[in-house]
Amino acid sequence: MLTSNTANLNAEPLLKPIQIGPIQIDTPLTLAPMDGMTNYAFRRLVREHSGSDCGLVCTELLSSNILTSADPRARHKFDWQAHEYPFAVQIFGNDPPKMAQAAKILVDAGAAIIDINMGCWVPKVARKGGGAGLLRDICTATSVVEAVVKAVDVPVTVKVRAGYTEGEPTAIPFARAAEDAGVKLIAVHWRFASQGFRPDPPNWDVIAEVKNAVRSIPVLGNGDIRTTADAQRMMTETGCDGVMIGRAATGHPWLFRHIAHLLRTGEVLPEPPIHIRAQAALDHARVMVETSDYGEERSVMELRGRLHQYFDEFIDTDPILADLRYQLVRVTRLDQIEALLHPLITMQFEEMAS
Ligand SMILES: Cc1cc2nc3c(=O)[nH]c(=O)nc-3n(C[C@H](O)[C@H](O)[C@H](O)COP(=O)(O)O)c2cc1C
Repeated sequence: MLTSNTANLNAEPLLKPIQIGPIQIDTPLTLAPMDGMTNYAFRRLVREHSGSDCGLVCTELLSSNILTSADPRARHKFDWQAHEYPFAVQIFGNDPPKMAQAAKILVDAGAAIIDINMGCWVPKVARKGGGAGLLRDICTATSVVEAVVKAVDVPVTVKVRAGYTEGEPTAIPFARAAEDAGVKLIAVHWRFASQGFRPDPPNWDVIAEVKNAVRSIPVLGNGDIRTTADAQRMMTETGCDGVMIGRAATGHPWLFRHIAHLLRTGEVLPEPPIHIRAQAALDHARVMVETSDYGEERSVMELRGRLHQYFDEFIDTDPILADLRYQLVRVTRLDQIEALLHPLITMQFEEMAS
């Protein structure tokens, strides 16, 4: 995955610590929130494989409507643990008092940072005015931020898209308003909400413009960072203080360590061999089953379509791994995953010992 060594060791280091209010993040490479993905099991795996080179992790988005109702699902996703510190818990919604109340509930339950979602483009969130829908109405967006900042004594951060409608980068004026309202960090995904995940040419200018718009808070760039070279280029070209990585980390929880190592030393770390990948996939499944409220079958069904991502680079060329993917997507129990992955783990150890 990481192929190019572009680190310029004579230049000022790119990876400088950032402050989120009183919280110092030594390595500004952070895990993006991803619904259905960045639950406790995956966040733990990222920290096990990348350590503090993943400077900050974030939960999946939580609904302020559900949090503030008597809905029994409200606490279902309170899956963070103290050892994850520093971590952010993300909320979405567009009603300032409800968002404030939801943030308080989360801080009482141990949230170290509250992140406000202004990036979700999916219609069921954005069309109702939540997520990136807030970027159509900067007044309401600012009121939401002000209410949340006032309600809690932990840092509040915001994750935005460039804007809602293509060509209208409302994230830029909003960034300054958010800083004035007390937000301590802004993460910017360069796409507009109306672009969804279209593979358009990247518009990094908006990240640079958000960075120019704020006075002193850190800005993270986000969107399609897959390699060290991508991370380095985004930071150099936009002046952003760090990057947030989502999809490329799935199946590659070591990615943050690899990027940080290359940016610090110029050395490319070797890509993990198959047995480490198989062990990571198995650990992911085991922790997910152990810690999720969903029970074994639902946890396995949620994860099974993603386990092959640990081997993606090899699947096109290795028929054994292609077959493994075929079988993994059909499992319903943890022991089936163990049976499929164990041979890869032990075979590799035997090869190494011989
Ligand atoms: C499956 C999936 C779920 C996501 N869920 C969230 C979410 O809960 N909150 C959020 O702010 N962004 C969410 N995102 C957007 C990511 O945080 C990130 O901004 C986006 O994937 C672009 O970064 P990447 O190219 O590094 O993946 C999600 C993205 C994906 C692919």
